Amino acid sequence: MAGRYNFEQIIDRRGKDALAVDMIPFPDVRVKEGFSRIPMWVADMNFAVLPDIQEKIIERVQHPTFGYFSPREEYFEAIRFWQNRRHGADPRKEEILFENSVLGGLCSAVTAFTEPGDAIFLHAPTYIGFLGTLEKFDRKLVFSGLKRDERGVWRMDYADMEQKIAENRVKMAVFCSPHNPCGRVWEREEVETAMEIFRKHGCLVVSDEIWSDLILPGHRHIPTQSVSEDAKQRTIALYAPSKTFSLAGLTGAYSIIYNQELREKMEKTAARTGYNHLHLLSMYALIGAYSENGLVWVRELMEVLEGHVEKTLAFFAKTAPEIRIAKPEGTYMLYLDCAGWCEKHGMPIRSLQEKGVEAGVIWQNGEPFGMPGTIRMNLALPESLLDEALDRLAKYVFV
Ligand SMILES: Cc1ncc(COP(=O)(O)O)c(C=O)c1O
Repeated sequence: MAGRYNFEQIIDRRGKDALAVDMIPFPDVRVKEGFSRIPMWVADMNFAVLPDIQEKIIERVQHPTFGYFSPREEYFEAIRFWQNRRHGADPRKEEILFENSVLGGLCSAVTAFTEPGDAIFLHAPTYIGFLGTLEKFDRKLVFSGLKRDERGVWRMDYADMEQKIAENRVKMAVFCSPHNPCGRVWEREEVETAMEIFRKHGCLVVSDEIWSDLILPGHRHIPTQSVSEDAKQRTIALYAPSKTFSLAGLTGAYSIIYNQELREKMEKTAARTGYNHLHLLSMYALIGAYSENGLVWVRELMEVLEGHVEKTLAFFAKTAPEIRIAKPEGTYMLYLDCAGWCEKHGMPIRSLQEKGVEAGVIWQNGEPFGMPGTIRMNLALPESLLDEALDRLAKYVFV
């Protein structure tokens, strides 16, 4: 596909600080002789970044001083530009707070607005990072299961949500939009209904929108704060350029909080840790990313990813039709539900997972991500590598 940016370049990440190629997510499994490693697991991308990101960093690094600094106006302007163009939002500078990471923002919110023993609401399946983070607090986690409808689309169960929230007197809800791991891009009506339940029961909402730029064609992200004035006031929204532009190694996220009281409390709580400081190079990365060129890059990226999703779904429909896959609406992750295939072939899922890794297809067990019986497969890699991975799966794994 001819575009402005090159998503076909194969980048050797070995020796360049990349978990994706340095680690295999199955401790005792080796890639067999003769196979290269095709990274299809951890949630970063195997594409070169938008050149503006590197250019902004390089330009700054060439100046030989790195002392204390205040975030530049351009940093806030870039966030305002991005929020406006991508999401139609119009936060003022003072409504944007730097967060060291999205999960760091969640930690601050939990500390600021809940007490030990308080109940926090989440949907299940649940992003593993929420669990790892919240388990460190002495809070009660309350889950409402998402359910697949007749078309296999994950849906919220509003009656169950309401019952659990009321019974447990939930104080805070963590809303993941788009939803990881289910890949749902919630429709406006769904966000409105969920927010109405949270309003009715007086829950503060932390809305994790880290995936909100990675929306597949045909879907649209609805910012939680946009659905009503009440939602705007009760929600701490967390964003970052790290998933969109694959910048996890540079660290940096931000929150948008319109309600002044909430904002001041968040800020004070984060300040108490002494850790929540913007990194100079992360600031320049964001300025490069959140730009006109960034908009084009993301648009082209999503076209590429859409092609990869379609190709991979077609591959499995033909090669291993017993594998069930809910087509994602956003993100670049597929979860392969292997139960039917494993039963038909009398093979435990672990053996199937290991066979893939032995052939150099470094995919991951979906179970820790709340998707038991699945394999998690990251499709953010050049098409020629995806082709090679699918070819190996056909020849050595699904035989
Ligand atoms: C839903 C969700 N939130 C947060 C994160 C992590 O963000 P951060 O590294 O900024 O804490 C991820 C990473 O995959 C994620 O999927």
